[in-house]
Amino acid sequence: MSTHVDLSALNGKSVIVVSGASGLGLAIAKRFANSEVHVTILDIDVPGGSQIVNELRQQGLSAQFVRCDVTAHHSRTEAFEYAIRLSPTKSLDIVALMAGVMGEPGSLVDMVIRGQQENVSQPPKLRHPALNANLVGICNCAYLALWYMNLGSGADGQKSGTPASQEALFSKSLMLISSTVAYTDVGNFADYHTSKFGVRGLFRGLRHETPRLNIRTNCLAPYFMDTPLVHNGLEAFAAAGMEPGKGFEFVDVEKVVDVAGRFAVDEGLHGRAIMIVPEPEGVVDLDDDEDGLWGGKVFKGVQERMRARGLII
Ligand SMILES: NC(=O)c1ccc[n+]([C@@H]2O[C@H](COP(=O)([O-])OP(=O)(O)OC[C@H]3O[C@@H](n4cnc5c(N)ncnc54)[C@H](O)[C@@H]3O)[C@@H](O)[C@H]2O)c1
Repeated sequence: MSTHVDLSALNGKSVIVVSGASGLGLAIAKRFANSEVHVTILDIDVPGGSQIVNELRQQGLSAQFVRCDVTAHHSRTEAFEYAIRLSPTKSLDIVALMAGVMGEPGSLVDMVIRGQQENVSQPPKLRHPALNANLVGICNCAYLALWYMNLGSGADGQKSGTPASQEALFSKSLMLISSTVAYTDVGNFADYHTSKFGVRGLFRGLRHETPRLNIRTNCLAPYFMDTPLVHNGLEAFAAAGMEPGKGFEFVDVEKVVDVAGRFAVDEGLHGRAIMIVPEPEGVVDLDDDEDGLWGGKVFKGVQERMRARGLII
């Protein structure tokens, strides 16, 4: 495990990792649990989530699993409610919203052509599972995260019942996941691409508002990571002549986890979108703000250097 970020200040805090049963969410959950943070994994994958939590508990770490389908109102609301009720401190300090599915392949144009070739009488209903989970589900979970992190606090961040000096030591942390695809054009994956642009929009609005609740909001934008999400698409990449090392490279998931750790622990970090791409660029603040032309300047520089090395971005 990487030891770059000292998370000891989070000792005794409580985190919810939405979709922590696999991939990036799992790596984040493990890092927090190993830093003496109480971890609640919410995920639709009950066997996966339960197994991880059993393993963490066997190591003497504090963790629990609650089933959650981010696309279903009752499921996600009950999951947050249970998570807090069953946590040792009955409170919530950090929320990492990591849910993601690849969704429908193809562009809307592909869908029109495919539908018309099938001679259907009316346009079939679009499914867009990535929009449902990655954007609408995450937006609703962000709402719940703010609701439960703010419980016990007065409005506009005025705390009640806790000595001010104690509260002032820690501002709560909300982190979202977009992707490098939220900074570029992708023609043939409308469902996923739109969902990740949407998360970027959610982040850009929230960062102006969550300080009112003493909550910092930041966003991860990783390049390809070696997780089940991508593994399922490797055949399609191979058919297009691309494989790890040829056309794209994986970034180390632990580097992304380092950034998530910094989001949680660094009181000065708010409103930042951080891109994690292969070395030598590595971890890059996108300057996704007015001065940085909304990420454009930084992203273009990284894109040019990566393309020169034969990597898509
Ligand atoms: N892997 C990559 O290359 C990459 C790059 C950039 C961004 N991302 C994003 O990172 C996040 C994590 O993805 P990953 O690569 O670790 O994939 P993963 O498939 O390993 O993990 C995704 C998790 O989401 C859960 N999930 C799916 N639908 C859900 C639902 N309806 N309710 C609750 N949980 C649900 C799955 O059970 C799984 O545990 C996603 O948002 C993904 O879009 C991934």
